Amino acid sequence: MASEAKDVGILAMDIYFPPSCVLQEELETHDGVSKGKYTIGLGQENMAFCTEVEDVISMSLTVVKSLLKNYNIDPKCIGRLEVGSETVIDKSKSIKTWLMQIFEESGNTDIEGVDSSNACYGGTAALFNCVNWVESNSWDGRYGLVVCTDSAVYAEGPARPTGGAAAIAMLIGPNAPISFESKYRGSHMAHVYDFYKPDLASEYPVVDGKLSQTCYLMALDSCYNVFCKKYEKHEGKQFSIFDADYVVFHSPYNKLVQKSFARLYYNDFLRNCSSTVDEESREKLAPYAGLSSEESYQSRDLEKASQQVAKNLYESKVQPTTLIPKQVGNMYTASLYAALASVIHNRHETLAGQRIVMFSYGSGLTSTMFSFKINEGHHPFSLLNIANIMDVSKKLKARHVVPPKKFIEVLKLMEHRYGAKDFVTSQDTSLLSVGTYYLTHVDSKYRRFYDVKGDGVTTTAMSNGH
Ligand code: ACO
Repeated sequence: MASEAKDVGILAMDIYFPPSCVLQEELETHDGVSKGKYTIGLGQENMAFCTEVEDVISMSLTVVKSLLKNYNIDPKCIGRLEVGSETVIDKSKSIKTWLMQIFEESGNTDIEGVDSSNACYGGTAALFNCVNWVESNSWDGRYGLVVCTDSAVYAEGPARPTGGAAAIAMLIGPNAPISFESKYRGSHMAHVYDFYKPDLASEYPVVDGKLSQTCYLMALDSCYNVFCKKYEKHEGKQFSIFDADYVVFHSPYNKLVQKSFARLYYNDFLRNCSSTVDEESREKLAPYAGLSSEESYQSRDLEKASQQVAKNLYESKVQPTTLIPKQVGNMYTASLYAALASVIHNRHETLAGQRIVMFSYGSGLTSTMFSFKINEGHHPFSLLNIANIMDVSKKLKARHVVPPKKFIEVLKLMEHRYGAKDFVTSQDTSLLSVGTYYLTHVDSKYRRFYDVKGDGVTTTAMSNGH
């Protein structure tokens, strides 16, 4: 039996990304690649990274504490906490258990949920778990909380500029300003080796970059197809990208987002969607109508032609979603929701009544297309308040640009620290803002200890729960 909850979805959001970042333009020079390769070729501007005092646990502690404080949520009101992450710090102990410290303080240990992991998809799995719980008969009337937290780092080579780091927290409940249109979910799941992390001694993935791009586009086609069929069965009319006010993609790097939107446009062309594809564009795409799907993924001419005809719609439906992913980089599980945060930041005044289509992709592979219906919401869960609390512009501006040489030094240090025990960090919190959690040391039993940057007057100690 289902619960009585209506319009279940995201009530509130907060985002945290590390204050250290490297400019892609400077990285191009440092890496000795041709000018424009990372900035135009990949479409990225800036990349955030964790220094030795931050990790996925500290970022998630920071963002959860911040969300509860900023929206004035009593920790006792959380009944389910789900974490999505692909950054492995412990093969058994979930990140969720770390976050329980925040709730234990208030006496609330009655919180379901653990971590979900499959590459960049874990956050979506966590979100679905929370939404399904609120819509189910087991719901006890309290909020769900979803946390997506990842640090994306790559070995030296072409994938390195597609890193990033962030944590996002989303409060889940009924009567949400960002509510699920649950009937239209379309998924595509399959077994492939496009990006995976088989070496447990290393934080870096094994990645077949070209294959991962094709897998992403194939999954997109498949999800869109199922999504459209479900919509059409339910609504009795054709769905096209014209019915979406915004399309939000998992964003490993912006160029793939540009190609993905063009791919949806090409799908609409093949499906004869006259609302999307005008006569002139139809003529431009006509030479590619007979390609097999395999050929269509390899055709550079089709890629160029579809990007060109989709350009205007891209500007209105996708561009406003790209701010944080371009500035912070791939945040793995948090990437899709950082793109959602970007459109809320850019368009919160006009979003009410609109539809946002989301595409979640995790290598390996798992993928789903789903959609949100947006309304103004009521304070404190209004779009305006969400935008104000996330305060994206201020957080982006407050960052510190680090030279590539320093970034590489940090990565080298982290290679040694990954899986290590018995060390003390620099505890240098000079770049962190007040309220940010940081790693102080790891003891001889691999137990990790964190503290919170105080305002100079008081400091709250956080240990391993004792
Ligand atoms: N100016 C402008 N553009 C340039 C320049 C230049 N000087 N030099 C190269 N480019 C363009 C290329 O033409 C190419 O564009 P295109 O895709 O439109 O053809 C783009 O820059 C990338 O260059 P390539 O040489 O094709 O690719 P590269 O070997 O650098 O690798 C890749 C790029 C595959 C994305 C790599 O960074 C990678 O493996 N990243 C991780 C995998 C990934 O993110 N996959 C996505 C889905 S899975 C996930 O989310 C983790």
